[in-house]
Amino acid sequence: MTSAAEGRELTQIGPGTVMGELMRQYWIPAAQSAELVRDGAPIRLMLLGEKLIAFRDSQGRVGVMDHRCPHRCASLFLGRNEEGGIRCIYHGWKYDVAGNCIDMPSVPPPDFKQKVKAKAYHAVERAGVVWVHMGDKAEAPPLPAFEILDVPDDEVSVTFIQRDCNYLQAIEGEIDTSHFGFLHAGHVHPEDVAEDDPVFHTITNRAPEYHVADAPWGTQYAAYRSAGGDSTYWRFANFLFPFWSQVPAGEFASHVHARAWVPLDDGHTMFCFLRWKRGISSQTQPQPAFKDGRPIGGTGRGYKFLPNTTDWLGRFRLAANESNDWGMDREAQSSNAIYSGIDGIHLQDQAITESMGSVTDHAFEHLAPSDQMITRTRRRLLMAARALRDNNVLPPGVEDAEVFRRGRSGYFVSDDKSPWQELYARRLSAAVHPSSIPLRAAE
Ligand code: FES
Ligand SMILES: [Fe+2]
Repeated sequence: MTSAAEGRELTQIGPGTVMGELMRQYWIPAAQSAELVRDGAPIRLMLLGEKLIAFRDSQGRVGVMDHRCPHRCASLFLGRNEEGGIRCIYHGWKYDVAGNCIDMPSVPPPDFKQKVKAKAYHAVERAGVVWVHMGDKAEAPPLPAFEILDVPDDEVSVTFIQRDCNYLQAIEGEIDTSHFGFLHAGHVHPEDVAEDDPVFHTITNRAPEYHVADAPWGTQYAAYRSAGGDSTYWRFANFLFPFWSQVPAGEFASHVHARAWVPLDDGHTMFCFLRWKRGISSQTQPQPAFKDGRPIGGTGRGYKFLPNTTDWLGRFRLAANESNDWGMDREAQSSNAIYSGIDGIHLQDQAITESMGSVTDHAFEHLAPSDQMITRTRRRLLMAARALRDNNVLPPGVEDAEVFRRGRSGYFVSDDKSPWQELYARRLSAAVHPSSIPLRAAE
């Protein structure tokens, strides 16, 4: 069980908090590269409870820094992005992407610009995403070695969606496999679905057994059920430090992806989904259908977004939200056309985790044996954050970024009776790895 005090330790991510300091050891996917235009308007960027701006300078370099001008704290969001830096419109001081003050025109010579520095963070671009490191070290560690970052940028699909709740409850929805047969598929009966359909086994047995263990990258589970005869239907999934998930919504052999749940502040999270376009998953397969060809209710595709605004929390918000009950259709719910009454797998997860409130009251919960992946993940996060605070032990994957390369999730049917982690290793070595596929010749 998680006490109220542990709940606060786990969910608060601002500067100086235990979990906030853990998060600041890692690279964070913060914005889409396309959001930043050379010499264009800066964007407001809320990250780990800090108000930042991001901009792209005349040379195409990205700057991410505290939004307050170090002179008298006017917001650099209002600044002029011109000729290699952002110029504050109050007294004209100007900063380059590294935060150096490069012009101080309101001060008679000799000025002291070399003594002034905006609070800038390390930023790099990869896979069409701007990554930020918010630690205070001069040198940032290597990027996490996710397999999806081995893929050429044009083969990576990038999706950002804001979620209005704490990062932890968002990520716990990802590693909670036993909800699948209810929230997403409670209205689907086994006799209506083809036996080779990936959802078939999740609805023939809605209470799977699990293995759960710590992994070098975080935690891992394998949910398993009989697939008839001597075969077993396996679903592997991962939590990866500090806020990533890999879910079993695709074929294990090619399901190369990573899903970040980036804390914007304690009550808002940005989902950042990096997916290999050539992997076989629910995103690349047709909409799920019954045997007779009718689409399965509630599995509608696509996301309807509100227009982005320049607000701190104005980017990539869905049109369906608490104010309109996430599009709840009570008729579809009562007729069992859609178990939840909400159309779209992602939206169903979004509605459920947002419905818990901004930050879950952990003292109110009653966790069950089917929640063991959640309890283990909380423990792993807490232990790592406390080890950093108390003994300065760097958490997993910061310096040893290669641990992430062995994280893979997905489903498969197998009659191999090896212990589950051996089975995982064997399947992983037989899987498709983007790094071993020759890059396509330049056109
Ligand atoms: S507050 Fe920015 S230049 Fe004065
Ligand atoms: Fe879900």
